[in-house]
Amino acid sequence: MRIVVLVSGSGSNLQAVIDAVQAGDLPLEIAAVGADRVDAYGLERAEAAGISTFVVPFREYSDRSVWDAELTRTVASYEPDVVVSSGFMRIVSASFIETFHGRYLNTHPALLPAFPGAHGVRDALAYGVKVTGCTVHWADAGVDTGPIIAQEAVEVRDGEAEAELHERIKQVERRLLVRTLSEIVQN
Ligand code: GRF
Repeated sequence: MRIVVLVSGSGSNLQAVIDAVQAGDLPLEIAAVGADRVDAYGLERAEAAGISTFVVPFREYSDRSVWDAELTRTVASYEPDVVVSSGFMRIVSASFIETFHGRYLNTHPALLPAFPGAHGVRDALAYGVKVTGCTVHWADAGVDTGPIIAQEAVEVRDGEAEAELHERIKQVERRLLVRTLSEIVQN
């Protein structure tokens, strides 16, 4: 199985996948890592691991559909079986979803369908939930919607700050992503 991983930031979930592949625990090939911005640290993690990288810089495109078409074309050129959105902070178009239909995996730091969107951890805290968590799902054309594959709960601690809670969720999320990919490879 070949995957392309899309990132926008730190890429610690990507690192968990790289580590599992390198340890021989996850029999797949990371064909490439792509980003929407040149300064995504995840690109450095990929380069350090000898993985091909590409950037389709969102800010340099005046037309969203042109950016989207270029992203779709570039991802498709690596012929992935599965595309993983791992902290990729862009909504992709229906045509991207169509091209990778049923093969576009997303991770989200909340228990969907609760708290979709870019601020899942902040929104859960603001609501005052006592339990939140993370979700791995097949993405469709909505925002953090599509069939759920796996979820795991994380208890919210009293007075916890967003960054602290997000880091604890990500510790679970990294494991869940690797486990889900492993199950997809097996099935
Ligand atoms: C993850 O919690 C992901 O679900 C969210 O952003 C975070 C990315 O973390 N969309 P990292 O870049 O993998 O460290």
